[in-house]
Amino acid sequence: MPPEATPREAAGPFAALRRLAPDSPARAFAIVIAVCVVCSVLVSSAAVVLAPIQHENALKVRQRQILLAAGLLDPSRDPVGQFSQVTPRMVDLRTGDYVEAGDPVDFDVAAESRAPGSSQAVPDEADVAKVRRRPDAMPVYLIERQGRVETVVLPVHGYGLWSTMYGFLALEGDGRTVKGITFYQHGETPGLGSEIDNPAWQARWVGKQALAADGSVLLRVVKGEPRGEGIEHQVDGLAGATLTARGVENLVHYWLGEQGFGPYLARLRAASGGAADET
Ligand SMILES: Cc1cc2nc3c(=O)[nH]c(=O)nc-3n(C[C@H](O)[C@H](O)[C@H](O)COP(=O)(O)O)c2cc1C
Repeated sequence: MPPEATPREAAGPFAALRRLAPDSPARAFAIVIAVCVVCSVLVSSAAVVLAPIQHENALKVRQRQILLAAGLLDPSRDPVGQFSQVTPRMVDLRTGDYVEAGDPVDFDVAAESRAPGSSQAVPDEADVAKVRRRPDAMPVYLIERQGRVETVVLPVHGYGLWSTMYGFLALEGDGRTVKGITFYQHGETPGLGSEIDNPAWQARWVGKQALAADGSVLLRVVKGEPRGEGIEHQVDGLAGATLTARGVENLVHYWLGEQGFGPYLARLRAASGGAADET
C-alpha cells in the first residue's frame, strides 16, 4: 500500500502517481513519462527562447566575414557598428539590375534557394558548384567612396568534399580583381578542408584576377606554387585537401559566371570603365 498522503499531496500534481504502488511497473512507467515530458518542455522552451539570440549571432558572424573579405574588419570593435560602411543591395541575377526584393542584410541563402516562385533549379550542365537551386535575387554588399564602388562583396556557396561551404568573395570596383575570400559555414575536415578558413591561405587570393575583361572566369586553384603563364589567375591549392580546394574553385566559377553574378559584374565593369581593358 502507498503511504498515506497529506491533504496537500493528495491534491497536488503528483496525486495520481502517489496512488500507484511504489514498486508497480505502472508507477515506473508513469515516472519515465513524466521525466520525458518535463525534459522535452525544458528543451523546447530553451530552443524557443534562444532562437532569436542564435539568429542575431549568426547575422553578426556573416557581417564580420563580409567586413573581413572586404579588408575592413577591425577585430577590436563590434562588427555590427562597423557594418555601417557597407551598403547592402539586392540584385536580380538574371538581369544584373538592382531590385527591391527582400532584406539583403538578413538573407538566408539556403532558405531563399528553395522559396517557391522566387528561386529556380540550376541546370545540371551549369551546376559546377552543386548548388542545385538558386534564388532569383541575391544580395551584394557595396563599399562606396565618392560615389564609386570601391569593393563589392558577393555571397557565394558550393559543395566541397563533405559539405556545402558558405562564404563571401570580395572584388575590387573593377569587378575582376579579388580583394578577399572568407567562409562562415562549412563541414570540411578540421586540419584538411577546413584550411579554407586559414588567413594565410585566404591571403593568397588577394590581388588575383578572377575574370577576363569579357567576363570569362579565369581563376584556378592549382596544386603547388602558381607559376608560368596565367600566374595572376592562379591560387595555390591546399596540400592534402585538393577536393575541398577544387570545390572552392567551382563555387567561384559558378557565382562569377552567367548563372551567378555574371550579368551584374558585367554592368559593374562597364560602369567602372573596365570593360575595354585587356585581360
Ligand atoms: C578522414 C579523412 C578526411 C578528409 N577530409 C578531407 C577534406 O575535408 N577535404 C579534402 O579535400 N580532402 C580530405 N581528405 C583527403 C581526400 O580524400 C583526398 O585524399 C585529398 O583531397 C587529395 O588531396 P591531395 O591530392 O592534395 O593529397 C580526407 C581524407 C580522410 C581520410
